[in-house]
Amino acid sequence: MPEYPKVTVDGKTAVVIGGTSGIGEAIALAFAEDGADVVATSRRADAVADTAERVRDHGARTVETTCDVTDRDSIEAMRDAVLEEFGSVDVLVNSAGVAARTEFLDLTVEDWNRVIDVDLNGTFHACQLFGRVMDEGSIINVSSMSADLARERLLPYCAAKSGVNALTRCASRELAPDVRVNAIAPGFVMTPLTEEEYSEGSELRRGIDERAVLGRVAEREEITGTAVYLASDASSYTTGEVLFVDGGFTRNAL
Ligand SMILES: NC(=O)c1ccc[n+]([C@@H]2O[C@H](COP(=O)([O-])OP(=O)(O)OC[C@H]3O[C@@H](n4cnc5c(N)ncnc54)[C@H](O)[C@@H]3O)[C@@H](O)[C@H]2O)c1
Repeated sequence: MPEYPKVTVDGKTAVVIGGTSGIGEAIALAFAEDGADVVATSRRADAVADTAERVRDHGARTVETTCDVTDRDSIEAMRDAVLEEFGSVDVLVNSAGVAARTEFLDLTVEDWNRVIDVDLNGTFHACQLFGRVMDEGSIINVSSMSADLARERLLPYCAAKSGVNALTRCASRELAPDVRVNAIAPGFVMTPLTEEEYSEGSELRRGIDERAVLGRVAEREEITGTAVYLASDASSYTTGEVLFVDGGFTRNAL
């Protein structure tokens, strides 16, 4: 009988950067519930401690360690703290992200740099620093459907996420065959980053509900299945790929 790989992260060690809020936190908790040891990290120690407690509630082991993805040394220190505790890392999720909502001609250099620094440069630093120490496993970058779209007042965000997709493709070549690198491209997901804009009755929300094939925004938990799949051995022949989880928004046409 052939053996069919399972969609599970049971027994793996995962690091989720940007793992204390929104999509990243949902992924961290889904991993923990499924049997992985999980380090959910971001800049604030209190947020890290809060998520760590919920990770432990699932019976998973963790390490409380902060990192700022705009500070390469802090990612390296976080990585080393994880290695000291667990010896190796099987899964890295890069979910830290910010956006600046400004018209192109009014955009400040500071806003451009801030978004590129967190969303693109931060993903580069983490992929490289973890890529150097991961003997095998899976890296998952949380990109966005915006990488392929011309979104209103979101130029640096769209540019950064396009860069993340290119980084994903190119890093997948360099880290093959032992480490796979993929991206998830969510559509509109209710999180602390978006809850105001996507609130019931807003103009944007009406547009989303009209155009998304599934006719609604996503809950953050709806992104976690794709993350478990990409982290698991069930996706062993998938690398350099960007998986859209957007309720059909991007492919919808008249
Ligand atoms: N919510 C959506 O609709 C949506 C859609 C597509 C893609 N995304 C992407 O999903 C990811 C998560 O977004 P979210 O909606 O969950 O937002 P969120 O604000 O809830 O979470 C972002 C996380 O990143 C962390 N973070 C921000 N700057 C950081 C830094 N410099 N160093 C370390 N951590 C930092 C925050 O502390 C937080 O934990 C982002 O990359 C975002 O671009 C979100």
